[in-house]
Amino acid sequence: MAEVVIVPDAAAAGVLVAEEIVSLIRANPDAVLGLATGSTPLPVYEALRSRLGGVDVSRVRGFALDEYVGIDPSHPESYRSVIAREVVEPLGLDPQRIRVPNGSLDGIEHAGDDYERAIVAAGGIDLQLLGIGTDGHIGFNEPGSSFASHTRVKTLTEQTREDNARFFDSVEDVPQHCITQGLGTILRARHLVLLAFGEGKAEAVAAAVEGPLTASLPGSAIQLHPHTTVVVDEAAASRL
Ligand code: GLP
Repeated sequence: MAEVVIVPDAAAAGVLVAEEIVSLIRANPDAVLGLATGSTPLPVYEALRSRLGGVDVSRVRGFALDEYVGIDPSHPESYRSVIAREVVEPLGLDPQRIRVPNGSLDGIEHAGDDYERAIVAAGGIDLQLLGIGTDGHIGFNEPGSSFASHTRVKTLTEQTREDNARFFDSVEDVPQHCITQGLGTILRARHLVLLAFGEGKAEAVAAAVEGPLTASLPGSAIQLHPHTTVVVDEAAASRL
């Protein structure tokens, strides 16, 4: 059973998780972070800005969960750009040590395997940040994803494209495909930290934490992990 921590708001969650990450890096300067995109983890990155002064982050490695396929890497909403803007630059991480799955069409057929090998070569992920989609996806593992899946190309659901349309000019501009760490990849991280805020996430959170283990609700895979922390506000916890 995941440990569920209910916090007053997203900012408090950001502080809590940022402090955990700072402790991790202090204890192990070679820490490997699993980075998430979307709005949810932003308070964590924000809280880290003022907490990493004096901490040696030069050897920290990071692996993003996912990326759109076919998006120009320089597009401001490619996850490569988002991770650079929200995480690498403000936190002073070494860009050479931070990877995002390669969503370029050129080489896409081996991009997933390459990514898996890079994670293994780094020694695995110590702490994996996760958000959750309204349909229960984690990373971009949409409903129907195998619990054993590795990093691979997936088709985005219409729901997810609509949810993410706010980052683009219109829903038509949201890519149709993505490359995402699999549920199996995520489960190999040593500590999962899933964050969710707001009423809109309440059903997905309840299903992930307490519902049946099912590929229809990919977030339920977290129940298979021995060390999962779920950090939610009251609204996101309201169906638990
Ligand atoms: C996005 C991302 C996920 C994220 C989720 C929720 O599509 N690929 O990693 O957790 O959807 O997004 P948000 O945090 O913006 O609600």
